Amino acid sequence: MKTCIKRRYKLNMGKWMYKLLINSLLVLACLLVSEITIAQSAKKTTTEGKQISSDLFGLFFEDINYSADGGLYAELIQNRSFEYNPEERREWSPFSFWEYITPGFSYGRISAETKSPVHPNNPHYLVLDIEHIGKEDQFKGVAGVGIKNTGFDGMVIRSGEKYNFSMFVRQLSAEPVIFNISIQTPSGKVLAENTITTSKTDWAKYTTTLNAIENCDTASLVLLATTKGKFAIDVVSLFPEKTFKNRPNGLRADLAQVLADMEPRFVRFPGGCLVHGDGLGNMYRWKNTIGPIEERVEQRNIWGYHQSAGLGYFEYFWFCEDIGAKPLPVLPAAVSCQNSGGTWRIGGTGQKALPMGEIKDYIQEVLDLIEWANGPVTSSWGAKRAAAGHPEPFKLQYIGIGNEDKITPEFEERFKMIFSAVKEIHPEITIIGTSGPFHSGEDFNKGWKLANELKVPVVDEHYYTDPNWFISNQYRYDKYSRDAGHVYLGEYASWGNKMRNAIAEAAYMISLERNGDVVRMASYAPMLAKKGFTQWKTDMIFFDNVNIVLTPNYHVQKLFSVNQGDIYYHNVISKDEKDSTIAASCVQDKETSDIILKLVNFSNVQKVMKINLAGFKNILFDAEQSLITGDADAENTFEKPQNVFPVETAVKVSKTFDYAAPAMSLTVIRIKTKK
Ligand code: AHR
Repeated sequence: MKTCIKRRYKLNMGKWMYKLLINSLLVLACLLVSEITIAQSAKKTTTEGKQISSDLFGLFFEDINYSADGGLYAELIQNRSFEYNPEERREWSPFSFWEYITPGFSYGRISAETKSPVHPNNPHYLVLDIEHIGKEDQFKGVAGVGIKNTGFDGMVIRSGEKYNFSMFVRQLSAEPVIFNISIQTPSGKVLAENTITTSKTDWAKYTTTLNAIENCDTASLVLLATTKGKFAIDVVSLFPEKTFKNRPNGLRADLAQVLADMEPRFVRFPGGCLVHGDGLGNMYRWKNTIGPIEERVEQRNIWGYHQSAGLGYFEYFWFCEDIGAKPLPVLPAAVSCQNSGGTWRIGGTGQKALPMGEIKDYIQEVLDLIEWANGPVTSSWGAKRAAAGHPEPFKLQYIGIGNEDKITPEFEERFKMIFSAVKEIHPEITIIGTSGPFHSGEDFNKGWKLANELKVPVVDEHYYTDPNWFISNQYRYDKYSRDAGHVYLGEYASWGNKMRNAIAEAAYMISLERNGDVVRMASYAPMLAKKGFTQWKTDMIFFDNVNIVLTPNYHVQKLFSVNQGDIYYHNVISKDEKDSTIAASCVQDKETSDIILKLVNFSNVQKVMKINLAGFKNILFDAEQSLITGDADAENTFEKPQNVFPVETAVKVSKTFDYAAPAMSLTVIRIKTKK
């Protein structure tokens, strides 16, 4: 433009009118030239788009807010192994969530025992001694002595569906015991029933299928011994046959489906603070969570409730495979959570480190996980994976060591040892380190310093903060060194589930894409929260036993996740760079060759951005547009779950066009190209 104007003065024309005309023509010409320049540079740059991470957007699952038992894990019985105990919660015992029942004026005795358990990892079981069976009553039904479980605030039963029942029984009297197993409404109406007769005086597993004839959202399981005798009972389980992908010991299909719909590139599990645990004895040890469910070690989690470990490492890995996501297990760095004891008990212990004498074994535990996931069936841990029903390797690529730990000398020493051992023996595994619980500060700096010294390939950052922080910090990663470790933004969320939160996160996610050469992965947190049991301020998906509420944050995460690309183009969209309320990106997905535009407007007025696709060859001008917009305060609730949701439309694009982004919105335009 400048050169053009200079040239104009060299023309030295006479009359001012004539000058004006010529000037105007020149300005027009300059504008045209500059347009062409933009288009040409777009063309040049688009062919040189930068490679970004193909694992950018994934999920983080933590058993917090009753996400696992009573949530994603489809088991309907609560306290199925009678392992709830008063050390977890003063009011709990092996009888918690069970009711001793004696319909028909039957009687007997019940006790909780530990002498000869089904497995030492699962020490408690019940013993029932049935002394008298009363009379069947036409109104109250079958007579007997037994137990009843209401699950997690009632069981959701659907007419026409099958439910798989199982239990372990050890017959303690000579005669077989005949059981009546039923699913009942709160008023005692039988929705499904069947019988089981014991035949063994050793622990044995008995199974039956229950076919439901009616719907009920608040059903119970009733198990009645209908003959005299004595027996021990443990691991009483009831699963809908229809779990996600019909997996045995599987996941609640509707909840798992909304996660699968996000097409995440990876899933980090099983936490969070749950991983490093509430004191050393509470750390999440992966070996306790595999194998038959009756052999798993149950315990209270750091969030103060019980985990059956029914949703364990095997189920997490299989779920990842089922949804095409890379598994990202996180293991403790041999130290407990620095908040240990602080959350649920007074007088916390703070971070505790495993004694050095135990570190060798601990490192072996980490190495064993890699063998369990990836080793051949002939290896000792690979054989266990195969025995569980998965002979093929799980293709583990990433492993996290530590979760936002306080970076103390004890942590550093242990992290270094684990890191070096894994790196040496498994150079094919990408290790993810940690940098404390905040976006800056002492642990953050120390965590990164250690990571840089050790050349840790990826470092996990966590931050929860207000939406304005996300808007003001959109250039955070533009300033990161490209020669250091990559970033995994393992936990982040703006405080809230309103549109303003979701759109602030969307603007920030644009910056993650733009910096996808240094930000390898990112996942919102926490993922799931059960109504009435929510422990974290903001979450992505709320649910109860029947309903699911997808927050605006979920919709934004999903739009980014299903529209990920591998190549980033920096100058296809032009906008006012000084306006931090608007953000935009252009990526291309290698697999489909689709060009994907994302345009974010965090302000309360419409804003225009210019799109120039001239540099792309083979564009098809038919595109799909997804738009989510709403008032800054709009949200989805159990009463109005569909208040805010993305609207999909078919649109026509052209080589260059202006897009007016509505106030408080995210728009994704997916453009096909000719192959
Ligand atoms: O996501 C909830 C908690 O936040 C995680 O357990 C922890 O890592 C973080 O502090």
